[in-house]
Amino acid sequence: MDKKLLDKIIEESFQYYKKGHVATYIPALGRVNPEQLGIAVYDLENNEQYFAGNAETSFAIESISKVPVLLLAIEERGLKNVFNKVDAEPTGFSFNSILNMEINKRTYPMNPFVNTGAIVINSLINGKNSDERFEKILSFMKLICNNEHLTLNQEIYESESRTGDINRSLAYYMKANDMFDGDVEDVLDSYFKQCSVNVNTIDLSNLAAVLANNGIAPWNNQQIVSEEAAITVKSIMTTAGLYDESGDFSTHVGIPAKSGVGGGLMAVSPDKFGIGVFGPALDKEGNSTAGMKALKLLVEKVGLNIFE
Ligand code: DON
Repeated sequence: MDKKLLDKIIEESFQYYKKGHVATYIPALGRVNPEQLGIAVYDLENNEQYFAGNAETSFAIESISKVPVLLLAIEERGLKNVFNKVDAEPTGFSFNSILNMEINKRTYPMNPFVNTGAIVINSLINGKNSDERFEKILSFMKLICNNEHLTLNQEIYESESRTGDINRSLAYYMKANDMFDGDVEDVLDSYFKQCSVNVNTIDLSNLAAVLANNGIAPWNNQQIVSEEAAITVKSIMTTAGLYDESGDFSTHVGIPAKSGVGGGLMAVSPDKFGIGVFGPALDKEGNSTAGMKALKLLVEKVGLNIFE
């Protein structure tokens, strides 16, 4: 990797923030400055990190949290038990759609990266209440992001919780249809908290580097998750990581990626790079406009399309 290349990618992609808008359905996200773009790359070949732009700016992890929480659930329960509760199919619907379950007569959520699936996955984390589950989730995020200073963004959490009625409706719908056990409000509380952890692109590049390295943290060679879990998660990122833009991204870019409405993107170049991107202005599907452009340029310039 090359720092100059990342600087150039930021320069070429930055203006794409104009094509998007910060998320406003969570009021605290609506106050973020859209004119930001950052990128960080963890290079597995030499164990070096490269970054450019607003790489060190903190933002809410949001839906990218669905990746570490799924990995933790798989570690605790085993792959089979987790995928007995959640499918691995792309949806073609927005991330918080209730329609897909109704229309398709679902008896369990379509995949772990739409909100219904993520709420069920959160409920699977061992712990008797929200505090216990969140403590485990935060410790695991610290481990896999190689950052012991990760914290909950209290303002985002309160904002998510106060305005989270669509998520409440999804959770009550699932509870009424026997899709998950536990107390709805308590599970939603730990779900809102998992979305409200502050990260930066370097943290995300570390998380992605563990996946790129098939579960082994490249900075200390510790096996954090099984190879099987890492492979499974990368494949679902490829088919459902960017919601109803996943097919387009696979076709025109071609690497596993996961987005969050805080503007983060986490992408994996298997055996090569872990990539974190931040650009808070989003397109209508909820993905970073400048961030997606930056990822596309990086993949093209370095030749990282996994299907090539
Ligand atoms: O559940 C929500 O609405 C948010 N906390 C997370 C959604 C999200 O990041 C979707 N991603 N693009």
